[in-house]
Amino acid sequence: MSEDSQAGLEGSRRFHIRTYGCQMNVHDSQKIANLLAHAGFAASDDGEAADLLVVNTCSIREKAENRLYTDLGLLREWKARRPGRLLGVAGCVAQQEGDEILRRFAEVDFVCGTHNLRLVPALVAAAERGRRSLRTDEDPTRARFELPERHPGLSNPTPGRAFVTVMEGCDMFCSFCIVPTTRGREVSRSADSILEEVRGLADAGVVEVTLLGQTVNAYGRHDLRRGRADAEGTTSFAALLAALDAVPGIERIRYTSPHPIFFDEALVEAHAALPSLCPHVHLPVQSGSDAVLAAMRRRYTADAVRELVGRLRAARPDLALTTDLIVGFPGETDADFRATLELVRDADFVDSYSFKYSPRPGTAAAERSDRVPPELAQERLEALQEQQRGQTLAAHRARVGGRAEVLVEGTSRRGDQLSGRDPQHRLFNLTAPAESGPRPAAEPGPRPGDRVWVRAVEATPRSLIGEIEAPRLQRSLRRADEQGHHVRL
Ligand code: 5AD
Ligand code: SF4
Repeated sequence: MSEDSQAGLEGSRRFHIRTYGCQMNVHDSQKIANLLAHAGFAASDDGEAADLLVVNTCSIREKAENRLYTDLGLLREWKARRPGRLLGVAGCVAQQEGDEILRRFAEVDFVCGTHNLRLVPALVAAAERGRRSLRTDEDPTRARFELPERHPGLSNPTPGRAFVTVMEGCDMFCSFCIVPTTRGREVSRSADSILEEVRGLADAGVVEVTLLGQTVNAYGRHDLRRGRADAEGTTSFAALLAALDAVPGIERIRYTSPHPIFFDEALVEAHAALPSLCPHVHLPVQSGSDAVLAAMRRRYTADAVRELVGRLRAARPDLALTTDLIVGFPGETDADFRATLELVRDADFVDSYSFKYSPRPGTAAAERSDRVPPELAQERLEALQEQQRGQTLAAHRARVGGRAEVLVEGTSRRGDQLSGRDPQHRLFNLTAPAESGPRPAAEPGPRPGDRVWVRAVEATPRSLIGEIEAPRLQRSLRRADEQGHHVRL
């Protein structure tokens, strides 16, 4: 949080949130921060300065879950260092383990599951009165989406950009996945409520929204099937995208994560028709072997993915595709693994997140005895990542010499360079304009939230180096853009 996020909150108690896991968790932490700001707490970047610490947990793989237990050991000392400090556990492990956490860890004051974020201030208030408490009951209603507007004292941690929850939960029950347990049944938010939030964000200067849901493109499906559309304001996902595309000020729309089986014609067509829908789809395919996909209960084949990729690319030729993959699923053979390498090549994924299968208690696949030995899974992971590095580098090299519009996010990992992403979601580290002299005082350099035109000058396996074009050129391009001329790369 920046200095101004503390404005007007001097002297108040401070909170710090430690977040693990996916973008949904990152966004949930933002929601918790907002609720705590409304309850009179001030945000702190520094856990040591905080009076209240919330760990927002992830249980997608064993390693993520174990982080909480390591953390809690250390946080016992954090709590002991200053009397009156409070410690809460939220997120997927909280939902799953519930009172087990309270029982095992005396230093934890409250546990809040994934359906009850709104109750965090009440749980904190109870803790202040010395009562340890827990809320992990499932909330199947849309009330869970109704949260207060951003507190004016909180700065936007992602200037120019925002996450927007459109649905929560998952009814797919892939055999490896704990999410249906930790996030509960699918519930879609009303389109009206989503639109209202996005209009408000646009008014506050947001240009890019990322629509979030565990199976985001399943949005509305249950309500539509039940014929509740009119009564409850639900639309199809494609119709929702079209409505959001029409919101003035919203220039970029992304969504994550979709499931391959919910790409209907209308959604594919949306990628051709909607100017603000970014030419990037994160399409988790998990495996390229039909036998493994069936055992994973993914409900599609590798060829169905190839066909979908073809349709998406036909709709949007400059589309960048990324994916999630699991290696070492029980029973995975060498031939199955080679099929995954083939699909990754055929789909021409520009990037992927790949994981070794991790058995999750209570999931169907965890019951299987035909586990892949860990060393073999590690070997496969490395081979897959090596192939991906080659594909990513080739895709980046193909971009060198071209231009891109980058939305500045902040400084690069090394902290000495601005970085941001283009519509294809490629990471650019930015360098100063080539022919720039000293910058006039009236013309400050780009800041997080600004969009700048860059020329890709170098490719690395992780990112592209983009040279910011001269301010004069920027201005004329922006003018052309504002007049509705599409500036092509
Ligand atoms: N083991 C390994 N990876 C998993 N994922 C989900 N569950 C597991 C598991 N049990 C991966 C999938 C999913 C991503 C978010 O995490 O690839 O798309
Ligand atoms: Fe997990 Fe499958 Fe649901 Fe994705 S679709 S959250 S992998 S169960």
